[in-house]
Amino acid sequence: MTIPRSTFKIGGDAEIRRLGFGAMRITGPGIWGAPTDCAEAIRVLRRLPELDVNFIDTADSYGPNVSEELIREALHPYGAEMLVATKAGFARTGPNQWTPHGRPEYLIQQAHGSLQRLGIEQIGLWQLHRIDPTVARDEQFGAVRHLIDSGVIRHAGLSEVSVADIKAASKHFKVATVQNRFNLGDRGSEDVLDYCTAHGIGFIPWFPLAAGELTRPGSLLDTIARNHQASVAQIALAWLLQRSPVILPIPGTSRVAHLEENVAAGAITLSDREFCELDRATSQRQQR
Ligand SMILES: NC(=O)c1ccc[n+]([C@@H]2O[C@H](COP(=O)([O-])OP(=O)(O)OC[C@H]3O[C@@H](n4cnc5c(N)ncnc54)[C@H](OP(=O)(O)O)[C@@H]3O)[C@@H](O)[C@H]2O)c1
Repeated sequence: MTIPRSTFKIGGDAEIRRLGFGAMRITGPGIWGAPTDCAEAIRVLRRLPELDVNFIDTADSYGPNVSEELIREALHPYGAEMLVATKAGFARTGPNQWTPHGRPEYLIQQAHGSLQRLGIEQIGLWQLHRIDPTVARDEQFGAVRHLIDSGVIRHAGLSEVSVADIKAASKHFKVATVQNRFNLGDRGSEDVLDYCTAHGIGFIPWFPLAAGELTRPGSLLDTIARNHQASVAQIALAWLLQRSPVILPIPGTSRVAHLEENVAAGAITLSDREFCELDRATSQRQQR
């Protein structure tokens, strides 16, 4: 299967540009409450269509509700091209507190809540944020099937899952995307990425910049960045885009300047040598 470099069709029909935006960081400290600078958060969101970004990742639990509500305030009515993907599967009890909650009735309730908060008639991509270990996996997948059958969501994805989880979920619905933690320095999901690449499933690497950790100067990444007159964050994103055509990075930021920098990474092409050197250096570091 040939997949174009700059775009990807989620679920085979919803075409997006591969470099998206993660909307978790437009909330308060601990992903709780309103952002410290609400006006800048709105500016970040309004800059997205201007920069041709048409894929936003959010969740009911970011804030909670705050991220979805700000997206609506800044961008509604969305252009036909814009895909706002959301998730559910966590209860929030305070800053930095996340409790998996996978009862089918809760998942269904939360998806309906997202519809209202986002002001849309159908969620283009809805992801099960976590498989709740206290609830039978198939019950949670059954709730996703119900959401598809009732038209609340169009495509469905999973988050933080194994290949076995994807295969089990595929008996209930077509898995359109998988969202696992993955970046140059954290390659624990290589097997899942390879499975997604082989099956045309979008792979959304969360934490693509390792919360800025990868942006520290003085590394091989730094040297390559200098050669491209780019930032290390941009090289980390360019590496992800070249790693597989199904990778859909969603760097998160609360600042317009960082957003513009991150989006510009889509225009950078690493040489085969640079790609391999980075690949080797970071996977060796993982093995130590
Ligand atoms: N499925 C899941 O379980 C899960 C978990 C976590 C996140 N996510 C999703 O993945 C998205 C991305 O993950 P993330 O936000 O945790 O990590 P990230 O994108 O790797 O890092 C975001 C952090 O890096 C900083 N940053 C962004 N651009 C930068 C740049 N160009 N230079 C220097 N620093 C920069 C941001 O600070 P500033 O705000 O100051 O720019 C922010 O603190 C989230 O927004 C969310 O949508 C999913």
